[in-house]
Amino acid sequence: MPSPSSLPTIGIDFGTSNSAVACRVDGVARLLPIEGTATTLPTAIFFNAEDRTTHFGREAVALYLSGVEGRLMRSLKSLLGSALMQEKTAVYDGLVSFEDIIARFLRELAVRAGRELGRIPEQVVIGRPVHFVDDDSKRDERAEESLRHAARAAGFRDVAFQLEPIAAAFDYEQRITKESVVLIVDIGGGTSDFTVVRVGPDRAARTDRSDDVLATSGVHIGGTDFDQRLNLDRVMPQLGFRHHGPQGREVPSKVFFELSSWHLINWLYAAKAVRQAKELRTSYADTQLHDRLMTVLEERHGHRIAATVEQAKIDASVTDAPISIDLSCAEPGLAATLSPADMAQQLSGQLENVIASAHACVKRAGLRSGDLDAIYLTGGSSALRPFQHALRKSFAGVNLVEGDLFGGVATGLACAAPQRRRA
Ligand SMILES: Nc1ncnc2c1ncn2[C@@H]1O[C@H](COP(=O)(O)OP(=O)(O)OP(=O)(O)O)[C@@H](O)[C@H]1O
Ligand SMILES: [Mg+2]
Repeated sequence: MPSPSSLPTIGIDFGTSNSAVACRVDGVARLLPIEGTATTLPTAIFFNAEDRTTHFGREAVALYLSGVEGRLMRSLKSLLGSALMQEKTAVYDGLVSFEDIIARFLRELAVRAGRELGRIPEQVVIGRPVHFVDDDSKRDERAEESLRHAARAAGFRDVAFQLEPIAAAFDYEQRITKESVVLIVDIGGGTSDFTVVRVGPDRAARTDRSDDVLATSGVHIGGTDFDQRLNLDRVMPQLGFRHHGPQGREVPSKVFFELSSWHLINWLYAAKAVRQAKELRTSYADTQLHDRLMTVLEERHGHRIAATVEQAKIDASVTDAPISIDLSCAEPGLAATLSPADMAQQLSGQLENVIASAHACVKRAGLRSGDLDAIYLTGGSSALRPFQHALRKSFAGVNLVEGDLFGGVATGLACAAPQRRRA
């Protein structure tokens, strides 16, 4: 068992959709298995109301999907910096704050890392997006502060932060043989982050890398926003979104926005929210649509639908063919379809903003796209076909390198550990 002083600092990529943990031993960073042999843990927590237990990751999602009574929470990171962080929510063991829920999740990561390392680590470098919150530095600071509190409450004594795209750059640097100027593109579940950075085998050993980071940028747009957009376009109309009532007025849309936002779904299951949704019935001309909405809320199928839409997005991207979205949980036999063309069209506005942020980063670095030696892609959403298509078009002639979609940031954080700045 390692002595406390030899215990390495771990890197935690606390992602909107997936989290990962890495540590560096003998100069080599490696991802730790944290759910069976998997080196990622979906950022999901399930409070089982039947036996009053707490579950994480794939197990949490599986319990929810199997119909066990309880509360599933996903996209916890999206709450950082929002007013909801202050709110308490009911779980089986009482009222807890979201900061406390994030602390429980980080504690679980520490415990699982500890199983691999022989002792629960107390020093951590946590990744953070370039912006937790766009255009609001106060809320952005608050978001980092909440995450720091949560990490301390999780038992970490020494907490430092590093920008996620810089961490991704350190990971990329491990596998190149010549010095290059690279645009690092990290498109995750919640944010799209960019860095222009000078990397190279001779530079990796330097302790101070600040001169090598030429610019950063980021926008609060990621895979969960793509899911929401596709959900609103393909699924929610079947529950009454944009439906006109007897007086010709649209059904109020708030419930549909919340039902398609991963981090807000839970709020709709509260008694008050269900009552308000029931009262919408008079706004519907076709009450069958309202029946579906009520079935989804009363039987708590929101996350199930969001997950089905997410999977359809991935499948449509991978296969480039139309995908059926099963909605039988709302009504037997009900389904929707997502075609690659619909997807490209629905996501074009968001993707334009993501690409604009990439160009802003290059401009901020004082470069033109032709000056880049490569664009390095990481983050699950960087695999999205319409995104890659838009990026190739916009950065014509620049070599695109596809990296480790889910582990690169954590590995890079572990590489960054020796230069950590104390919190
Ligand atoms: N093949 C794929 N094509 C398109 N999107 C994908 C694919 N695989 C995963 N995704 C999406 O990638 C996202 C998760 O990516 P990742 O795990 O990198 O995010 P994260 O690190 O949790 O989020 P963030 O860094 O924004 O906090 C999800 O929205 C998921 O739907
Ligand atoms: Mg990420």
